[in-house]
Amino acid sequence: MTETLPDLLLIGCGKMGGAMLSGWLERGLSRAIVVEPHAPAAADFAHRATIIPDATAIPADFAPGAVVFAIKPQEAPATLPAYARFTAGGALFVSIMAGRSVASMRAALGEDAALVRAMPNTPAAVRQGFTAAYAAPGVTAAQKSLADALLQAVGEVAWVEDEDQINPVTAVSGGGPAYVFLLAEVMEKAAIEQGLPPDMARRMARATVAGSGALLAASTQDAAELRRAVTSPKGTTERALAVLMDPQAWPAAMSKAIQAATDRARELAG
Ligand SMILES: NC(=O)c1ccc[n+]([C@@H]2O[C@H](COP(=O)([O-])OP(=O)(O)OC[C@H]3O[C@@H](n4cnc5c(N)ncnc54)[C@H](OP(=O)(O)O)[C@@H]3O)[C@@H](O)[C@H]2O)c1
Repeated sequence: MTETLPDLLLIGCGKMGGAMLSGWLERGLSRAIVVEPHAPAAADFAHRATIIPDATAIPADFAPGAVVFAIKPQEAPATLPAYARFTAGGALFVSIMAGRSVASMRAALGEDAALVRAMPNTPAAVRQGFTAAYAAPGVTAAQKSLADALLQAVGEVAWVEDEDQINPVTAVSGGGPAYVFLLAEVMEKAAIEQGLPPDMARRMARATVAGSGALLAASTQDAAELRRAVTSPKGTTERALAVLMDPQAWPAAMSKAIQAATDRARELAG
């Protein structure tokens, strides 16, 4: 990651926008303007970026290399047209909005807009995100490399060649942290059912999920190998996995869940 980050315009500094901005600032950003109407959301960045409430306050001479949309998808139709003027200046637009297609954004920004669609996830807040990105036709190699540098500031990046693949990505890595947090919730509940004190059950479930994630991240072994390393023949874990790995249990539930989320992402696309 050797690229220098250019002047940047961030639209929306909520959970994801804020996480990404802190990654960029850590990397060293010459100038950042943040458009955020909800002042407390951007307050933490006030000494390192210029925070303005709407697009009318952008200085006329500001020519950002990248414009990043981190607003809710439903805000897009009313918000994007104010940024169409940066298309002619050759800015790269990066959208992290779920379900906003390249076609719908180009309708607002101009057909020549250089656009990258990206789907990050909330571990970006601790620089351990996973982002899948799609570069629309016309995006140059230099622009793609800039988008890659911006997204890598908050974790791993993978590129997809087909825009539709953003939908299963949304289902797997976009929503994935929620499934893992659910695992911590249900483990805590099951521990309490077995008579363990609630406070200990909570600490135990959190530490087990977090520690397993750290071990997975630090290991070159497949998840299945790490699972087998915990599973002695005829032991307790084997008994538990026989329940969870029944084809009708977790394997079927996860396939159905990812299918449902992918279908919903396609329904919301526009
Ligand atoms: N959270 C995730 O796990 C996740 C994962 C992948 C992608 N995303 C995508 O990331 C985007 C942002 O999600 P989020 O969770 O960060 O939402 P969020 O916390 O609600 O942040 C959005 C921010 O944008 C502000 N805003 C609203 N209208 C604006 C406008 N016209 N100009 C500039 N800022 C405006 C909002 O202010 P107000 O509060 O005043 O409205 C809010 O502070 C969404 O499109 C979502 O699909 C989120």
